Parts: sequence; structure tokens; C-alpha cells
Amino acid sequence: MVKEMKSWWCYNKHSNLVVKFAILILLMGFGCRFLFFGSNWFASVTVDVEDTSSNQKSELQNPPVSVSTPVTVSASLDDALDAPVIEDQLPQNQNETISGSPDDASDGDHSQELVSMTASVKCDLSMGDWIPNPSGPVYTNQTCYFLEDHQNCMRNGRPDTDYLYWRWSPRDCELPLFDAPRFLEMMKNKLWAFIGDSISRNHVQSFLCILSQVEEIVEIYHDKDYKNRRWQFPSNNFTVSITWSPFLVKADIFEDIDGVSTSEIELHLDKLDSKWTDLFMGLDYIIFSTGKWFLKTAVYHEKDKILGCHYCPKRNLTELGFEFAYRRALRSVFNFIVKSKHKGMIFYRTFTPDHFENGEWFSGGTCPKTAPLKEGEIEMKQLNSVLRAIELEEYEKAAKKASENGVHLKLLDVAPLSLLRPDGHPGAYRHFHPFAKENKAKVIYDCLHWCLPGPIDAWNDVIMEMLVNG
Ligand SMILES: *[C@@H]1O[C@H](CO)[C@@H](O)[C@H](O)[C@H]1NC(C)=O
Ligand SMILES: *[C@@H]1O[C@H](CO)[C@@H](O)[C@H](O)[C@H]1NC(C)=O
Ligand SMILES: *[C@@H]1O[C@H](CO)[C@@H](O)[C@H](O)[C@H]1NC(C)=O
Ligand SMILES: *[C@@H]1O[C@H](CO)[C@@H](O)[C@H](O)[C@H]1NC(C)=O
Repeated sequence: MVKEMKSWWCYNKHSNLVVKFAILILLMGFGCRFLFFGSNWFASVTVDVEDTSSNQKSELQNPPVSVSTPVTVSASLDDALDAPVIEDQLPQNQNETISGSPDDASDGDHSQELVSMTASVKCDLSMGDWIPNPSGPVYTNQTCYFLEDHQNCMRNGRPDTDYLYWRWSPRDCELPLFDAPRFLEMMKNKLWAFIGDSISRNHVQSFLCILSQVEEIVEIYHDKDYKNRRWQFPSNNFTVSITWSPFLVKADIFEDIDGVSTSEIELHLDKLDSKWTDLFMGLDYIIFSTGKWFLKTAVYHEKDKILGCHYCPKRNLTELGFEFAYRRALRSVFNFIVKSKHKGMIFYRTFTPDHFENGEWFSGGTCPKTAPLKEGEIEMKQLNSVLRAIELEEYEKAAKKASENGVHLKLLDVAPLSLLRPDGHPGAYRHFHPFAKENKAKVIYDCLHWCLPGPIDAWNDVIMEMLVNG
């Protein structure tokens, strides 16, 4: 019943990228990835990757390189909706080997600069190392009832367990573990919302798993697809919600029940998704995030006019590149936030990098590591640093205005710590016992989402610290 899935994606770089890569792009093929999780339906989607590099900084004008690589894979709908990922496997330097391995440390400068930009005088919670945590996670697959099958690596038979025994240790300060009783005490009568894509959903599970070890939780709402949900802790009237809004701006997505796209996404860069704006003023704490959905083929609108698109050869529109849309959309989101007079606390969570090695999700890429890396042992892949550069620039601008306006906007920068955890993804164990004899399906690895328990449990340690001492 698995139908072929083809997805056409496009990755266009018009700015900020370095020409050096152009030639190897041809040799290497691309990163294009579309990760799916969920298994109820199977779908056909077409993926197309195009790459164009130019180096404006060095004033070199290499001819743009443009290649299309159709790929065919099997995947399922829930994921198609959830976690499209285009991955760059761009070489960092013409003279480098074509390995795409995360160990290639070659393109650090850009992201390093950005990271230091966000460093706070006090203690940069995002820089540090993972240190052993012999006590392990506070919950397991047996004690948490909020785990989605695709992230429930224990249940799915992941054989190694070392990845469970680490905690995040920022370089310049002590980071206590999440204190659930104290947290719940602080959250009396509060509303806490997660707004974003499938990684936000991944995070809310971790959050609920930890809290549910100390207090009972009741689900009080879900929509028919379980994409928008709300839970409550009756003991202290604390409500947690998740709102599905992968772009944060208004998006018309034309996918049928099988995840087959019948038309490009229509993205309104100047209009926000009312799913979250309707709730916004009533929320006390919000964690926003977005990211990889912007790599999808889409037509871009502003003021109800079509401006152009990202990879839409059938539409005869100006190619604007996903960077354009990502920046404009974030700007719209941040403008709304900084002018909002919101009195609660708003976190912008940085998007988190994937760790596919030796291929892509569709071409046998895996994430075989079983231990964290040390700071400096891995650099963010090119495409991820492009997204990161944009989000950090837009955040920094917004943060200034927010503080002038008395809006509490904070950066929850989990990308650097997550980058060091190639061992934390489900990999093959997004499915139940993927290598069992009776399991004939081709194994597709998930090196984007995170096992639970797993590294993203530590995001909550960071949040707690920001709340208490932030
Ligand atoms: C690549 O290597 C050659 C010879 O080793 C050298 O001349 C050239 O400058 C190198 N190019 C880059 C981009 O590093
Ligand atoms: C939890 O995982 C273990 C293996 O680590 C497995 O034996 C057990 O059946 C799982 N329990 C549940 C409830 O999924
Ligand atoms: C529970 O919290 C909500 C806001 O989060 C508040 O409106 C409501 O009055 C609270 N209920 C009680 C019984 O305190
Ligand atoms: C595409 O658009 C351009 C500019 O609007 C126009 O000149 C051209 O005729 C169009 N091509 C097609 C095939 O519609």
C-alpha cells in the first residue's frame, strides 16, 4: 500500500552564500529532504532540488549552477504535513572531499559569529557541552503517556541507551535540572502555548512527560488530526497548548488526504496565521518556532498580490528564493509581537539542525552516532546556517524594539546545543522494530526529530533557568 512518493523541492540561493561551492554542487547532488513521520497514509509528492550559488561578498560571479534531482521515496502523510526538510549537502570548499559528514568542520565562521552575537553578558546558556548524567531521564516510555510512536525510540527497539545519560552544561554557569514541582507552582492559572511545526510538537511531548511525573494532566481539547491540542493540570489550573502553524504566517496548503500536493502553497508573507493570533493576547507564555517549511515550493503574496515564488516553473513567476520569504514572514511575526503590548513572556525558539550523514533521507542517509559531540566538532550545514542567520538577524532587530515597548521577547537558542546531539534522533527507530524479519518496508531514517526521552528534555532545563534567572 505504499505508493511512490516523489517530492519536488527547490533550494535556491541568491545571496549570502559563497561561490566556492558551486562546482562541487554538481558533483555532489543535493540535499533535499522531506522527512515524514506518521504512518497512516502514504503519499505521492514530487521533490525537486535546485541549487544556485553566487558569491556576492567576494564579487566573484560564478555562473549559477542549477540542477534538478527528482527523488523517489516512500513516506507517509502525517509526516508530509509535518516535517518537510530540505537538506543541503553543499560542500564547504571546492577542495574538500565530498563527504557531507557533520565532522567536516569547514564553514564555522558564519554561524559562530551569529552565535556570539546572541551571547548574553550574564551566561550564554546556548554555549557549552553535554556532560554525563548518570541518573538519566526522569521519565521513560513506561511512565509517560504523551509519547508519539515515531519519537518513542525505547518502545521502537532502539538498542543503545547511552544517548539518555547526558545533561546540558553551559560553559559559564551552572544549569540546574528542570524542577517540575517548582515550575508548576510558578504556573498557577497560567496558559502556556507552543506554536510551530512538528519540532514544537516534539518539544511539547517532552515538556508534558516531565511535568506529568509530578502531577496528573488531562487533555481538554484536540482537533481531528491532533495537530492542535490543549491539556490541563487540574491541581493548579495550568494549561498547555500546541498550535500547528508551520509558517506562522497565513498559508494555504493544498494537500489531499494522501499528502499529495495539488498546487503550490500560497504563502501570505504580510498576514499572520489567525490560528495563533486569535489566542495570542490571552496567553501567558509562548514558545514560537518555524523554519524548514519555508524550503517548500510556494507562491509568495503580499498585500494580496503575487510577488513571486520559490521554485514554481509552471507558474511563470519571479523566483524570489526561500530566504526572501523566511525573512519577510519573520519580520511580520516579530512586528506583530513587538507592537502587541503583550504582558506575558514570549520565547522565539531557534530551529534545530538535522544530522543526516552519508546521504539524504531519501538516499540512505543515516545518523549512526551514539554519543554527543564536543563543541567545535561539528559545524552547521550550509543551508541550516542560512536559515539561522536570517532568524537571528530578524530576532535581534525585534528584540531591541520589544524592550523599548516593554514586550518580553526572549531567544530560546537551542540550535547550538542540539547541533551537538547527532545521537539524539530516532534514525531507523521512528518505526517499531524496523529491522525485524517480518518488516519488509525499506527503512527510512529520521535524523531530524528527537527521541523521547532525549536531548530536547534539556531544552526545558534552559527554559526553567530563563524563567528563574532570565
Ligand atoms: C584548491 O587546491 C589548489 C591546489 O591544491 C589551490 O591552488 C587552490 O587555491 C585551492 N582552492 C581553494 C578554493 O581552496
Ligand atoms: C518500553 O521499552 C521497552 C524497551 O526499552 C519495551 O520492552 C517496553 O515494551 C516498552 N514499553 C512500552 C509501554 O512501550
Ligand atoms: C484558571 O486559569 C484561567 C486562565 O488561565 C482563568 O481564566 C480561570 O479563572 C482559572 N480558574 C480558576 C478556577 O481559577
Ligand atoms: C512570463 O512572464 C513574462 C513577464 O511577465 C512574459 O513576458 C512572458 O510572456 C511570460 N511567459 C509565458 C510563457 O507566459
